Amino acid sequence: MVKVSLKDGVNWVGVVDWNIRDFHGYTTKRGSSYNAYLILDEKIALVDTVKAAFCQELIEHISELTTLDKIDYIVVNHVEMDHSSSLPVIAKLAKNAKILATARGKEELIKHFGTEFERVEVVKSGDKINLGKKTITFMEAPMLHWPDSMFTYLIEDKILLPNDAFGQHLASYERFDDEVDPQILMEEAKTYYANILTPFSPLIVKKIQEVVAMKLPIDIIAPSHGIIWRKDPMKIVNTYMDLCTGKTVKQKAIVVFDTMWGSTDKMARAIGEGLASQGFEVKLLKLRATDNTDIVTEIVDAKIVLVGSPTLNNGMFPSASSFLTYIGGLKPKGKLWGFFGSYGWGGGATRGMIKMAKEAGFDVMESSIELKWVPTAEELKKCFEFGQETAQKIKA
Ligand code: FEO
Repeated sequence: MVKVSLKDGVNWVGVVDWNIRDFHGYTTKRGSSYNAYLILDEKIALVDTVKAAFCQELIEHISELTTLDKIDYIVVNHVEMDHSSSLPVIAKLAKNAKILATARGKEELIKHFGTEFERVEVVKSGDKINLGKKTITFMEAPMLHWPDSMFTYLIEDKILLPNDAFGQHLASYERFDDEVDPQILMEEAKTYYANILTPFSPLIVKKIQEVVAMKLPIDIIAPSHGIIWRKDPMKIVNTYMDLCTGKTVKQKAIVVFDTMWGSTDKMARAIGEGLASQGFEVKLLKLRATDNTDIVTEIVDAKIVLVGSPTLNNGMFPSASSFLTYIGGLKPKGKLWGFFGSYGWGGGATRGMIKMAKEAGFDVMESSIELKWVPTAEELKKCFEFGQETAQKIKA
């Protein structure tokens, strides 16, 4: 492997997963990477490991810099399997290493991998480990995005290793933000935030404020997925603040729909035109043609989300149910939700969708629109007006 050095003695030893396309339901169209970092000083620390399938590659990358029995510390910033499933093998080979994790991390490691992880030593915010010339310290970051999550900070090198925070699912041989297409990088960072971190937005804001208040100098932010931020690390921090606080939201409406014989499609188009007539940027996204991952990313900076489904067997289309289940868990805040659909002899889809959206805590409009069989010109005019009125509600 070509040596990837963040600063003298701080090396990326992770792996690139070029072919992953499904990351527990998140469509990773550009692959990903599992980033692990090796800090070489009088003592040696490994921060995080990688997915088990790539364990041998991690061992090779570490072995180019040291032997595993010389590792003094293994820091587990986060127990999720993409970062820890090769830990049992690495822990055996790094037999002299102390394993460090938060109290919740220790609990989770034991439950994931067995009682051999009773040996984990618990660290908490502010604890410091001296490696020689370098010192590492820790910041607990519970629910960013698991209870065990932790950031590691290299004091002298001014490098923050925040694990999943500030990451992107982006496979690349280039490792730094100044080496990749900035548009793709920011697009993937937004998709990652939208699909993983949206529910934790208030906690992210709090954590960023906490770090800012500590006045920690940060030269580099090196997350556990994707590209390392060294050119302008504050760019991703500010982007997260904007995303978390709704600053990126604009006059934008998303019409998400599925269709059986084209009626709901016609409704979606008419509604979309109604929204656009009021100056809204509008995107029509057909379920089964668009991944939930991409739909969620589009919704992050929208003010209005209108969802349409035909009625199938007295209920909504399975694709609509899947979408509402997914977004119901992510709970993006500050959107106005509306519903529409078509049916043959008895409705049900619209009613079912409204119920799901209300249960998710969304701000749902009282008015909805549901029509029988194929829309007439008059009914399409009503759909146009529905879009128009929805946009006007927001403008008012
Ligand atoms: Fe990248 Fe939460 O694991």
